[in-house]
Amino acid sequence: MASAAAPTVLVLNGPNLNMLGTREPEIYGAHTLIDIEASVKDRAHDLGLFVDFRQSNSEGELVTWIQEARLTASAIIINAAGYTHTSVAILDALQAFKGPIVEVHLSNIFRRETFRHHSYISGVATGVICGLGAKGYLLALDAVADKVARS
Ligand code: DQA
Repeated sequence: MASAAAPTVLVLNGPNLNMLGTREPEIYGAHTLIDIEASVKDRAHDLGLFVDFRQSNSEGELVTWIQEARLTASAIIINAAGYTHTSVAILDALQAFKGPIVEVHLSNIFRRETFRHHSYISGVATGVICGLGAKGYLLALDAVADKVARS
């Protein structure tokens, strides 16, 4: 029952996630980003949320979108992909966002190479979901629906 007044959740996807489905499917699964977007939008509709779903390979573009979200979104779900482990700029932008932030990773980053164990985003995230594949996005949406309803 999403309507024009439905709270907006910005779902951000970082570099190389446009290649899901063909990129290392044994790690990231067979779903494409378009499949994930469709299932997230379906769930958002059921939860009475509007989802703005985006992907960029550019760090600056992600930063700009997070800045804009201060005025346009009630919550952010972010899979910053490789920038998770490198980007102080994305951390700084998220720090200025007042609503709930859920960090999502398809893979369990703690079972992988040690450089993936550190996330710049976790320290500002309300919660972190990793290792549950595409379902992690739906769990993140359920969590932000709850937070947005309570705020
Ligand atoms: C990822 C994990 C990151 O370490 C990696 O760089 C990605 C995807 C994930 O969803 O599992 O690109 O964020």
